[in-house]
Amino acid sequence: MGGLMAGIARTGATGAGGMLPELLAWSSSLQHDRALMLEDLVGSAAHVTMLARTRIISVEDARALRDTLRALYDEARAGTLHVPDDEEDVHMAVEAELGRRVGAVAARLHTARSRNDQVALDLRLHVRDQAAGLVREVAALVELLAGRAEAEKDVLIPAYTHRQRAQPVSAAFLVASWGVGLARAAETLLFALDRLEMPLGSGACSGTSLPIDRALVARLFAPWEPTRNALHTVGDRDFALDWTWAAARVVLALGRISTDIVDFSTSEFALVSLDGAIAAGSSMMPQKKNPDVFELVRGKSARATGNVVALLALMKGLASGYSRDQQEDRLPLLEAGPLARGCARVVSVALPHVRFDAERGRRGLEEGFTQATDLAEALVRRGIPFREAYKAVGALVAMAVDAGAPLRSIDAARARAVHPALDAEALRALDPAAAVAAKESVGGTGPHAVDAQIAWLKARSKALASAGAAHGTLELLAERVFAEPLEVS
Ligand code: ARG
Repeated sequence: MGGLMAGIARTGATGAGGMLPELLAWSSSLQHDRALMLEDLVGSAAHVTMLARTRIISVEDARALRDTLRALYDEARAGTLHVPDDEEDVHMAVEAELGRRVGAVAARLHTARSRNDQVALDLRLHVRDQAAGLVREVAALVELLAGRAEAEKDVLIPAYTHRQRAQPVSAAFLVASWGVGLARAAETLLFALDRLEMPLGSGACSGTSLPIDRALVARLFAPWEPTRNALHTVGDRDFALDWTWAAARVVLALGRISTDIVDFSTSEFALVSLDGAIAAGSSMMPQKKNPDVFELVRGKSARATGNVVALLALMKGLASGYSRDQQEDRLPLLEAGPLARGCARVVSVALPHVRFDAERGRRGLEEGFTQATDLAEALVRRGIPFREAYKAVGALVAMAVDAGAPLRSIDAARARAVHPALDAEALRALDPAAAVAAKESVGGTGPHAVDAQIAWLKARSKALASAGAAHGTLELLAERVFAEPLEVS
């Protein structure tokens, strides 16, 4: 931290000496909100444009300011912009840098604006860029899963409840379940995106007496509308809660896919294998082939969850209006995007290196009792009440357990002794392929039902991708803002 701590926002009100350098340095957010540099520059460019169009400042002054903001923006994108550490936050740092570059006219930039509405804008621009990017990436992953489901229709594996073998399903059905979870999580990102509004013009807490045009600024960030109430706007971080919650939903969905892969790649399950390109070794055990990438995705869901909790705790009980506490939103809010996008990316990269083991899947279904429900349903189809069928098959299972043999090994004669309807025809339901083929209820594991799920995933993926694209990128917004005329037409 430079020793200066210039503090261009100081007036006589805070006294001549200024805040103690140690306290100023400690309370500065610049270290974290440097990450909002591009957002801050684009927001200021929009603000300057509005000030010119409403004739609050001259076109000439606005041009000098906006051209310099553009230069700073280009330098920031190129990674060549260096602003000193001696300001309280990125907003003051930018204003001070403008002052160094354009001189006295920089004093007009902050007209009808407070850092309270400024940071509210920067954070929303960040969320928009990150959330829209994440939606597009998750949409691509959903599409990948839909394609993968198509490729795995013939592989049969047990589905698990309580992590005990439960019922036979196709691997396609499992993969489709992952896709649905991700698509639904991505929809919460759209919810967060759709609720974003344009906060600038709220000022410190109650608006301004100057003739600003909030609708103009909102149009620059279309489809946004101006926020409804200045006091609410500056004290509001609901958008940050929605964002971190939605990002956490994505990471949690990825984490649960990861758990399936971690478990299924053990020699105990052995339903999938990882190729060497995604497996990690052990520094001690020469035989190990570990699923570290998937464990890390699951592990990172702790941070994603923590970010939502941190913001909930931060906002709980805060007074209306702005409180400096809100600056503590920075770490959770800024971490959420890169964290979730990193997880989405590595799962997309790693999944094609995960292979289902059809033979182990088949054995898992033959050895056990996973078709018991299918047999009971075969009896129901003959008019037997479900509870009676359930008990009959339960007795058959007990018989098989006693014999230490799979359900399928019991012949029709012994089965009929348990219940007259348990004949050879009924016992055909114990064939895993037949069991899966018969489950055509909507959302079930039958092949047509799964086809419908795959079609839905593909359609959802397209819809998500275009919704994500509709919110654009910060880069596109910047071009729109810098191209907006300063003159009143
Ligand atoms: N650094 C502050 C933040 O990030 C900016 C707003 C500060 N407002 C104020 N009145 N001190 O929240």
